[in-house]
Amino acid sequence: MSAIVVSLTTCLSWSSSPSSSSLLFSKLGLGSAAAFRRCCAPSPPPPLLFCRGKLRMAHSIARATLGLTKPAQIDPLKISFAAKEVDVVEWKGDILAVGVTEKDMGKDDNSKFQNSILKKLDAQLGGLLSEASSEEDFTGKPGQSTVIRLPGIGSKRVGLIGLGQSASRAGDFRSLGESVAAAAKAAQASNVAVVLASSDGLSDESKLTAASAVASGTVLGTFEDNRYRSESKKPVSLKSVDIIGLGTGPELEKKLKYAEHVSSAVIFGRELVNSPANVLTPAVLAEEASKVASMYSDVLSATILDIEKCKELKMGSYLGVAAASANLPHFIHLCYKPPGGSAKIKLALVGKGLTFDSGGYNIKTGPGCLIENMKYDMGGAAAVLGAAKAIGQIKPPGVEVHFIVAACENMISGTGMRPGDIITAANGKTIEVNNTDAEGRLTLADALIYACNQGVDKVIDLATLTGACVVALGPSVAGAFTPSDDLANEVMAASQVSGEKIWRMPLEESYWEMMKSGVADMVNTGGRQGGAITAALFLKQYVDEKVQWMHIDIAGPVWSEKMRSATGFGISTMVEWVLKNSC
Ligand code: BES
Ligand code: MN
Ligand code: ZN
Repeated sequence: MSAIVVSLTTCLSWSSSPSSSSLLFSKLGLGSAAAFRRCCAPSPPPPLLFCRGKLRMAHSIARATLGLTKPAQIDPLKISFAAKEVDVVEWKGDILAVGVTEKDMGKDDNSKFQNSILKKLDAQLGGLLSEASSEEDFTGKPGQSTVIRLPGIGSKRVGLIGLGQSASRAGDFRSLGESVAAAAKAAQASNVAVVLASSDGLSDESKLTAASAVASGTVLGTFEDNRYRSESKKPVSLKSVDIIGLGTGPELEKKLKYAEHVSSAVIFGRELVNSPANVLTPAVLAEEASKVASMYSDVLSATILDIEKCKELKMGSYLGVAAASANLPHFIHLCYKPPGGSAKIKLALVGKGLTFDSGGYNIKTGPGCLIENMKYDMGGAAAVLGAAKAIGQIKPPGVEVHFIVAACENMISGTGMRPGDIITAANGKTIEVNNTDAEGRLTLADALIYACNQGVDKVIDLATLTGACVVALGPSVAGAFTPSDDLANEVMAASQVSGEKIWRMPLEESYWEMMKSGVADMVNTGGRQGGAITAALFLKQYVDEKVQWMHIDIAGPVWSEKMRSATGFGISTMVEWVLKNSC
């Protein structure tokens, strides 16, 4: 029997320390977590800078306490998972949840279940399961679930959870886990078991995928973000989940451990995105990234570039976007080196990190502009930092990974960029900013140049880049753009395992025509048509031709209206992709 403990750790902690914004340039991850500290500029700063530093510090305190909001530190929730082979009738606990397809609900001529597990349970319960499921109109459709309190077996309740026509993909099993979490929450259950009515047809590989997807679905379905509520909510009751009938042993144990690492990374990502922009400033995002690096300092190191360093690197495109904000930009670079050090392949993950996007002078106005949601414009950054956390924990061999975020805020002020301004990116290319609301691509341009300068073989960027992509694919599907069929295949395979929905879109080169400027090398927006494509073509200008590149527009799936929460989209696919590149 294998048992693991999953901790849902609240990583975003309140820090009233102003140190992050007074930093000039620091390199972190030099020692153990205990020895973790920031190293400031080597020589004393000149008086003027010192004075500005002090002002900045005072300002940053004022900013960080804006609205006096202080997120609560919530104790990590622990759920233990155990893979077991036991008789469902004998299992003792609060809910025995059975994943049922529509086919499994089929009855014979005597109105008895044909499926062996349902038949056995029904016999033990004297036909009550069959009766109750008919009364509840339970037919096994996806999303259907019913929990019945029935005496007669070891479990206090039986839950039937609909899987639809068939269940074979990771997404199906993750949904099953989410329904199990919902049922456990409703019944205040502490111990549940999950079993598939028909698991015989699954290959050993599919059983591993199913078990780990059920585990991560349960953890993520249990997650509630209560850090910003004044009254503490009832703690989650779920303590243990037994996974029955999908095998046991070290391989399954490893898969469950992996699911644990990825799920806690997804929760970390969700918490970053859920945090409002008055709390999660670029400095705080950099602080969170540094904490991740210090947690896994054996394999991760962090470099945070301050505004002066970014100027030295000529990141005019990124700094143009950051110019209006009182919250200073912070350029985040975490580097993963495998234990033992030797890497056969170098990868980069680049995330859009706008802690708030007002639109700038092209301010977001009118119904449906979603300005009030624009704290989630750092969802790409959260995906990248979440992936860094999981990779730091999993420690895959043979692969080096750079995690890069040009974090800043798109605001409005006299120091800000005007529509029509011409800015210059780190590779010398000039951009006529015909719309200050197309800011993500401007920050990503300098981040992609920086990523390619790390000598990577492949780079993927994730960004809440365009409303156009949401119009094209709706709220649940991300758009992927790449000139490389190989990279497309790798990422699509990874998304099959993670269950995240990603659809490949065309990089239609002829549309570059729309991006031509009369005075500069390019404009930053090309009009309403094909907006997600022209945005991707813009990014392509900043990627080294020798580097395989993919852009993933996550503007839709970053957020769930149903959950009223961030989703943590991208983390599990990116971790899976990194592991595919590891050896
Ligand atoms: N952050 C937005 C994109 C966005 C919109 C994300 C809605 C999530 C939901 C981005 O910076 C933006 O404003 N894009 C503009 C581009 C336009 C000016 C070409 C857009 O999509 O409207
Ligand atoms: Mn914008
Ligand atoms: Zn934006």
